[in-house]
Amino acid sequence: MSQTKKRKLEHLDICAEQDVEYGDAWFKHVRLVHDALPQKDLNQVNTGTRFLGKKLKAPIIIAAITGGVKESKVINTALASVAEELGIGFGVGSQRAMLEDPGATETYNVRDVAPNTLILGNIGAVNLPQYSTQKVKKAMKDIGADAMCVHINPAQEAAQPEGDYDFTQCIQSIAKLASEVPVVAKEVGNGVSRENALELRRAGVAAIDVGGFGGTSWVLVDKIRKNNHGISHDWGIPTAASVMECRAVLPTIATGGVRSGLDVAKAIGLGAECAGMALPVLRAYKKGGREGVKKFFQKVIDDFRVYMFLTGSGNVAELRGANLVVSGELKEWCEARDVNYKWYAERDLPHTII
Ligand SMILES: Cc1cc2nc3c(=O)[nH]c(=O)nc-3n(C[C@H](O)[C@H](O)[C@H](O)COP(=O)(O)O)c2cc1C
Repeated sequence: MSQTKKRKLEHLDICAEQDVEYGDAWFKHVRLVHDALPQKDLNQVNTGTRFLGKKLKAPIIIAAITGGVKESKVINTALASVAEELGIGFGVGSQRAMLEDPGATETYNVRDVAPNTLILGNIGAVNLPQYSTQKVKKAMKDIGADAMCVHINPAQEAAQPEGDYDFTQCIQSIAKLASEVPVVAKEVGNGVSRENALELRRAGVAAIDVGGFGGTSWVLVDKIRKNNHGISHDWGIPTAASVMECRAVLPTIATGGVRSGLDVAKAIGLGAECAGMALPVLRAYKKGGREGVKKFFQKVIDDFRVYMFLTGSGNVAELRGANLVVSGELKEWCEARDVNYKWYAERDLPHTII
C-alpha cells in the first residue's frame, strides 16, 4: 500500500477515535437577535439555497473526509447518498491517491448514489504544480464533480518533519486551474484572512472554504501520529472571525468547528453561503452508519429551520441579513482588524452588502 493510502487510513482511525479538536471557533461570541414577532410560519420557512450552480435543500456541505482506500468507497457512498436524500452538498477527500493510482478512482465516484447534489472534488494546493491542468480536470470529470476544492494547509505541512514546505507555486497553480474550472480554495483548520481572500479573488477562485480554527486540528492529528516536530496546535483564525474577514470578498463556506444547527445559523448570519462539517459526520457514521449520519443531519437541519424562524427569516437570504451581536474576543478581533461588526447588529435591509 502506498504512503498516501496508509496515511488516509491512519487519519480516519485517529479522527474517529481520538480527541483531535482544539480551540474554539468563536460562534459562542455571536448572538442572533431573537425575533419575538417573527410573522412567519415555521413550517413554511425555506431552508433551500443555490451554491456553485446547484440547488441545495439546506446550506450545508459534508466537508472532505476520505478517498483512495476501499474503506473510503463505503464511507463516501453512505455520506453521498445521505447528501442526495437530504439535498445537501458533499466533498470527497484529497484525490491525490487516484492521481497516483487511477485504480482508486472508484473510491471517490459517488455520482451513482448522488446524481443531483453538489459534489466537490479535492486536491492539495502544494501538490497542484505536479499535475497538468488536463489531469486535474480529468480527475474532476471522472467523479462528476461540480467544482474542485484546492486545499491549502501550510500549518499541517510545516508541522510535519517530512511535510511539503514549498508553497511558492500555490497561488499561480490555483489561478491556472481556476481559469478553467470552478475552484473552491479550502483551508483545513487554520482559517483564511481577508488579505488571503483578496489574493484568491485575484486568482479567480469561485469561493472560499475558510476551514477555520476551532474544530479538527491537523497539527494535533499529526502530533498524535508522532509526526509533528513541535509546532503548537494553538494556531489559526477562528472560523467565525475568518467568515467575517472573507464574506465581502468571495462566496464563503464556514467550516471548522461547526457542530449544530445553531452554529450553521450563526455562520449564515455572519455572511457565509453555506456551512461545512467533517468530524461530526465521521463520528456519526462510525456510531450509526448511514442512518446515523442521516439522523444527525436531519436534527441539524430541523434546528437550523427553528433558528431561522426565531430570527424572523423566511429564507436563507433573509437570515444572511438578520441582526446579530458580536462580543468578547471576536469583537476584539474585529476592532483590531477593522471588520465592521457593528453593521451586523442593526441591519434594516435583508440584502445589505458592505
Ligand atoms: C478524517 C478527516 C479527513 C480529512 N481529509 C481531508 C482531505 O482529504 N482534504 C481536505 O481538504 N480536507 C480534509 N479534511 C478536513 C475537513 O474537510 C475540514 O476542513 C476540517 O476537518 C474542519 O472541519 P471539522 O471541524 O468539522 O472537522 C479531513 C477531515 C477529517 C476529519
